[in-house]
Amino acid sequence: MPQINHQFRLAQRPVGLPKRSDWNYMEEPVRPLAEGEILVKVLYISLDPAMRGWMNDGRSYVPPVGIGEVMRAGAAGRVMESKNPGFAVGDTVTGLFGIQEYAIADGKAVTKVDTKFAPLPVYLSTLGMPGMTAYFGLLETGELKTGETVVISGAAGAVGAVAGQIAKIKGCTVVGIAGGAEKCRYIVKELGFDAAIDYKSEDVRKALHQHCPNGVDVYFDNVGGDILDTVLAQIRRGARIVICGAISQYNNTTPVQGPSNYLSLLVNRASMKGMIVFDHAARYGQAAREMAGWMAEGKLKSREDIVAGLETFPDTLLKLFRGENFGKLVLKVAES
Ligand SMILES: NC(=O)c1ccc[n+]([C@@H]2O[C@H](COP(=O)([O-])OP(=O)(O)OC[C@H]3O[C@@H](n4cnc5c(N)ncnc54)[C@H](OP(=O)(O)O)[C@@H]3O)[C@@H](O)[C@H]2O)c1
Repeated sequence: MPQINHQFRLAQRPVGLPKRSDWNYMEEPVRPLAEGEILVKVLYISLDPAMRGWMNDGRSYVPPVGIGEVMRAGAAGRVMESKNPGFAVGDTVTGLFGIQEYAIADGKAVTKVDTKFAPLPVYLSTLGMPGMTAYFGLLETGELKTGETVVISGAAGAVGAVAGQIAKIKGCTVVGIAGGAEKCRYIVKELGFDAAIDYKSEDVRKALHQHCPNGVDVYFDNVGGDILDTVLAQIRRGARIVICGAISQYNNTTPVQGPSNYLSLLVNRASMKGMIVFDHAARYGQAAREMAGWMAEGKLKSREDIVAGLETFPDTLLKLFRGENFGKLVLKVAES
């Protein structure tokens, strides 16, 4: 008897925040494998802000998810069947397996991971795509140097929390911007940031003046919008602004809000540069080894916010846009 695969397929392109009716929850039997393929039982799925962009039509760094297609998502699981000599039954793996219970892959973009070193969800978090984004975004795009003043927005999230901790490891002064007292307390008390600004209750401009009296050398931007504009007004000469994301703009039904303070780049001989983590894929292994070392030494903490149940996907995804996730948002599909 073939296994039955439950999955979420894109029903229509959302306008604003995705709605339940933008998805179809379907079931179909798992087809037999062809030569070279593996069958993966999906255990954990990574829910990422970028998924909102993948649902839109138009040119981007990856093609949009087509109407009727299984929603694209990074995930981790276990190989159940293999017709590929590179993978054995029982291997734990990560890849773009989608929002579904079973995935068939040809093995090309599938990575074996070892749960002796870290639990599986951590490979979707600090030792996975978000951690790589923080590492390469800060160290390469941001050209971070010891002793600099770094500001990070989305600071309690999957990417931001890792970026802030890496900046501390590199001997920088780190100020995080996050929503709410609990997230602000966490990044200072538990992650060792020097200061936190609660953008929901504080005047960000004043707080930046207070915490970065000499200005900002590196701004790692995860949110865009007003916060980007406010930080731009307080950069130092030669500052680097890393455009990692702009979550405040992803569900806009009006055009994306650009920074009106961009002439600060001119005055300060500063730069603002976008980064896409996938461009660094060839060096993920090296970065993950270094980050695993920091984790083993207790210098880098990983936090996952795990929600159980594939069927909760449409609502769980929205936690990202409501600021309800605390740590890397992961959907748990099955125990083992
Ligand atoms: N360039 C790349 O290759 C790459 C790769 C991965 C991720 N990213 C980007 O990195 C950013 C963070 O991703 P993540 O996976 O780490 O997500 P995350 O930070 O774990 O979760 C999203 C967080 O964004 C904040 N947020 C939501 N709406 C906001 C708004 N209107 N204004 C300000 N903050 C808002 C919320 O935190 P608060 O409670 O603090 O508001 C929420 O918890 C996203 O922009 C994502 O697209 C880029």
